[in-house]
Amino acid sequence: MTGSSLLMEFQSRISEKTARVGIVGMGYVGLPLALGFARNGFHTTGFDIDAAKVEKLLRGETYITHIPASAVAAEVNKGKLEATTDYAQLREMDAIIICVPTPLDEHRAPDLSYIESTAEAISANMRAGQLIVLESTTYPGTTDEVVLPMLEKSGLHCPPLPYTITGGAIASPETAGADFLLAFSPEREDPGNKQFQTHQIPKVIGGVNAASAVAAQALYDQVFEKTLLVSSARAAEMTKLLENIYRCVNIALVNELKLLCLRMGIDIWEVIEAAKTKPFGFTPFYPGPGLGGHCIPIDPFYLTWKAREYEFPTRFIELAGEINSAMPEHVVASLADALNRRKQCLQEARILVLGVAYKKDIDDLRESPSLRIMELLKIRGARVDYHDPYFPRLPKMRRYDFRLASVELTAQVLSQFDAVVIATDHSSYDYHFIARHARLVLDTRNATRDVAGFREKIVRC
Ligand SMILES: NC(=O)c1ccc[n+]([C@@H]2O[C@H](COP(=O)([O-])OP(=O)(O)OC[C@H]3O[C@@H](n4cnc5c(N)ncnc54)[C@H](O)[C@@H]3O)[C@@H](O)[C@H]2O)c1
Repeated sequence: MTGSSLLMEFQSRISEKTARVGIVGMGYVGLPLALGFARNGFHTTGFDIDAAKVEKLLRGETYITHIPASAVAAEVNKGKLEATTDYAQLREMDAIIICVPTPLDEHRAPDLSYIESTAEAISANMRAGQLIVLESTTYPGTTDEVVLPMLEKSGLHCPPLPYTITGGAIASPETAGADFLLAFSPEREDPGNKQFQTHQIPKVIGGVNAASAVAAQALYDQVFEKTLLVSSARAAEMTKLLENIYRCVNIALVNELKLLCLRMGIDIWEVIEAAKTKPFGFTPFYPGPGLGGHCIPIDPFYLTWKAREYEFPTRFIELAGEINSAMPEHVVASLADALNRRKQCLQEARILVLGVAYKKDIDDLRESPSLRIMELLKIRGARVDYHDPYFPRLPKMRRYDFRLASVELTAQVLSQFDAVVIATDHSSYDYHFIARHARLVLDTRNATRDVAGFREKIVRC
């Protein structure tokens, strides 16, 4: 099959909606994406190594709070969504989208093991004519340098060839010698964001060659309102990193300014609210207890690692990392100071941490600064409990094992603690009630901004 006939065949299966879509990794990114394809009429199969997730999906259930079971059940019952742990079924797919984790290892270097094992599994179950798209966030070069050679072990080929985009399109997408198609398209999911749903967020796409880019665009055009081609997989990989580094650096900037404002007796949140009235040239970012989630604390260091190959120090990233990762220590030091002013000390103090999710209204603990705060408090001898409506118990994690259950949030319970730390500003919290019944409140999120009274026992930090 030539590159162009392979592409034409793929495009016609897409436009007829007979193409089968496989999503590998049915997590925060993969599940909403699979639902998107299923809703748009594509027979979609979710592949995951976690058999418990697969079984839940097959029963029409959910395991992600902000994705309702009814949404899963609707597609399962229509026969549009199924799930499996059996990689052999990859061969039946026309498009395979990879959404597996990309964490850092213990030396803060990229851990590509999930991508590599997925590529290996695909390679063993590939056939000619398939499109494979990597969505996992990673450093520029992963698709070309890591995934492509692993897929080519199948004996099939996808020659990496430069292409140009004119007026948003590729004039001649033919790619001679291509047996399969390979592209990168970064995921821009923001879990819990009610303003933007997956399909409303424009999809950036870069191919290993022109045919791959055009095929991937044809696929995503079925689900996303807007797609945008860039001239290589590397450019698409770098786009995602730029977005996350931009957030990481700007959050570090406001965190540093917060520390200065605290010393100067200026309210940083008031300043940000005032600055954001400027209709151009300013985007607000907010200080907090530290970075959390699977993206912002991790992804920038993928680039730092890759930049070393080019003997290039990524100083903004390193500085932002330094400032942001010092925030939990700042919270604990502020709490010790506040207790000290009351002639109390942190040692033996009973501290209640409100919110362990890394941001409000989601059930995601990954890299949550609350966990680091709890660890630091325990190191300093405090007796720590927590409350979080999304986590009745704290599971054992790679780094932490607190063996704690969420306490009840009653007036009596609140009053038993020497201090309450608002680490995550869940919308369901009644901040007036908390301030009324707690002895001391340390507010890391400005969550008590509308609480009129009790200011003498609220400390913002
Ligand atoms: N969560 C987000 O908000 C977000 C946003 C943008 C980008 N991303 C990126 O998307 C990627 C996936 O993130 P996520 O949040 O969905 O992760 P997740 O941990 O929620 O889901 C990953 C899923 O992949 C499965 N898995 C792991 N190895 C597998 C394998 N070899 N084969 C099949 N399944 C496998 C896991 O069991 C899990 O269900 C990461 O690279 C992440 O950086 C995440």
